[in-house]
Amino acid sequence: MRFVGTQYEPNSGETVLETLLRHNVQVGYSCMQGDCLSCVLRCVEGNPTAESQEGLTQRMQRTGHFKACVCLAELVQVVTRAGG
Ligand code: FES
Repeated sequence: MRFVGTQYEPNSGETVLETLLRHNVQVGYSCMQGDCLSCVLRCVEGNPTAESQEGLTQRMQRTGHFKACVCLAELVQVVTRAGG
């Protein structure tokens, strides 16, 4: 998974957020269970799950935004910060 120009290798079953935190990447988060929306990132290449887009506006969903704490890292190949 590539995030803001750097490649990170997810462990099996790891979420996007878990992968980034394990590599000491500074990203926002709080609840870790899909409720607070503070971990939202944007997928540029890949297929975030419907669950990981629940609670986001249609516009955000269309533009690839998803909740990093509930999306498996193996499903998204290129990710950037929300709005970016
Ligand atoms: S950390 Fe709260 S929704 Fe992801």
